Amino acid sequence: MELAVGLYDVSKHFGPVVAVDHLTLEVRRGEVFGLLGPNGAGKTTTVRMICGLLKPTSGRVVVLGCEMPREALKARRFIGLLPQESDVYESLTGRENLEYFGRLYGLEGEKLARRVEEVLKLVGLEERADDRAGEYSGGMKRRLMVARAIIHDPELVILDEPTMGLDVFAVRRIRRLIRRLAEGGQTVILTTNDLEDAERTCDRIAIIDKGRLLALGTIRELEEKFQEKGLEEVFIRLVEGEQA
Ligand SMILES: Nc1ncnc2c1ncn2[C@@H]1O[C@H](COP(=O)(O)OP(=O)(O)O)[C@@H](O)[C@H]1O
Ligand SMILES: [Mg+2]
Repeated sequence: MELAVGLYDVSKHFGPVVAVDHLTLEVRRGEVFGLLGPNGAGKTTTVRMICGLLKPTSGRVVVLGCEMPREALKARRFIGLLPQESDVYESLTGRENLEYFGRLYGLEGEKLARRVEEVLKLVGLEERADDRAGEYSGGMKRRLMVARAIIHDPELVILDEPTMGLDVFAVRRIRRLIRRLAEGGQTVILTTNDLEDAERTCDRIAIIDKGRLLALGTIRELEEKFQEKGLEEVFIRLVEGEQA
């Protein structure tokens, strides 16, 4: 199976609000795929439908061969999500946070301990693992949440605004971490409104606004198609066009 995710003519309405509007796109296995759009574009809603947390109003969502949300339970162990609104357990240590989530996925004993060490190392928190997460900086907390999202070694990692609110150093570490996940063979979907995130981490980018797909491709393909230099120019032209 070459596809990680397929969205086919997917819409989501909240009462009168159309959050996602006939969205069709496919995410390939092993790529870092960016959902790029301004606030309110429908990114989180899309992510929640991919994870089976929200049922589309219409259309079809397929994730690693599972029909969502019907087969969400089956898909759950293949998906790791960093939700946009989420936090660490501040009174637990970093290690305890990960052990807790590992147990939720059925890991225990030696296997759990080994996996916790592995992800601590991957996100660069091994030296602070036994400090309370409440004492971590914003960047460390975010890295702990990424570690939590991948504790069960999911095939598909979904990061909803992973760099939001972090300083430049923390942002760089998260971007490197995203590339590292991809190098390890995982498929990564990330949402962002940060053009540099998209440029530095994504293999392909979908630009969305008002729940609609405006463009999809590599940066080079987008530049070519819209005859602009740089992602920022493409993005501004497309999204401004929507505002008009
Ligand atoms: N649970 C909800 N109830 C009502 N409206 C919602 C809900 N979730 C999202 N929306 C609306 O849907 C639109 C898209 O939101 P969202 O998916 O959060 O965008 P993004 O993540 O791109 O900022 C916004 O207009 C938002 O207000
Ligand atoms: Mg969002």
